Amino acid sequence: MQFPDYRARRMRRSEKLRAMVRETRVAASDFIYPLFVVPGSGVAREIPSMPGQYNYSVDKAVEAAQNAAELGCSGVILFGIPEKKDAVGSEAWSDKGVVQQAIRRIKKAAPDLAVAADACFCEYTDHGHCGVLLEGELDNDASLENLARLAVSYARAGVDLVAPSGMLDGFVGACRESLDEEGHTGVGILAYSAKYASAFYGPFRDALDSAPRSGDKKTYQMDPANAREALREVMLDESEGADWVMVKPGLVYADIIRLVRDHTALPVAAYHVSGEYAMLRAAAERGWLDYDRCLLESLLSLKRAGADVIFTYGALDAARLLRG
Ligand code: PBG
Repeated sequence: MQFPDYRARRMRRSEKLRAMVRETRVAASDFIYPLFVVPGSGVAREIPSMPGQYNYSVDKAVEAAQNAAELGCSGVILFGIPEKKDAVGSEAWSDKGVVQQAIRRIKKAAPDLAVAADACFCEYTDHGHCGVLLEGELDNDASLENLARLAVSYARAGVDLVAPSGMLDGFVGACRESLDEEGHTGVGILAYSAKYASAFYGPFRDALDSAPRSGDKKTYQMDPANAREALREVMLDESEGADWVMVKPGLVYADIIRLVRDHTALPVAAYHVSGEYAMLRAAAERGWLDYDRCLLESLLSLKRAGADVIFTYGALDAARLLRG
């Protein structure tokens, strides 16, 4: 059929009609809310490059997590800032670390909320790289040993999902093996499978003071030019025991989300990263964009691209908007 017999506008004439033919929906249950946990108590320090997001002490992080749960979000993902950074990031796997404490308290306060914890070292090392360095280069296999310790300490605290984000070779297998050895067979692995060496992580690195002090992360994070390589990474992580695979960043990599969605039977997560959030906030502050509408449209686009869940700093805002 052709125009004028067929008129595409007929089904757009009213909200009721549009709703009937709507192909994609976004809901609060699609969202995972990231939280940045710092030492201390009563701390809620706004992150300058991420308006509306905070560095929270454990007590405040628990409140934010409860808020996310009440709004219908499915989970939170925790990142920690240690008291002291060192060369290997040893505070990361301390059972008394801020993330481990937050896991325990959030699981108690909001038992139904899924709690994921980012398993990486860049927030914990004094050089800002995602593992141990050997002569200035990331030592892959030595870093895996520490990652195994980290995964187990999260599991002991009661985490639902360990989320290794360092893009080291073998990182999913190292997590699975160590978790199983310690009897944590029920803890899932959310693999940051296709994580690109992106400039969109800038505000996140401000929040955690985690920018690499020298060099960059291009020897482990993926080249933004590559798509087929994302499938190889996904296949590797699947074979090592990943329960989820993630594509990151989100919108600029919507093609990768679709590609991964079409090639794996695992659930696919998208991370709408700090830079994507900051852009919306900054433009809205100038009155150049409508934050609410642009946020919902961004999240809808990630779903349409094929994401099953979305990690987003806009989780609470979007959940409130969807509630109306
Ligand atoms: C840690 C990590 C990063 C992000 C999530 N986990 C930063 C990085 O790799 O440098 C970025 C998240 C964001 O920008 O919102 N490896």
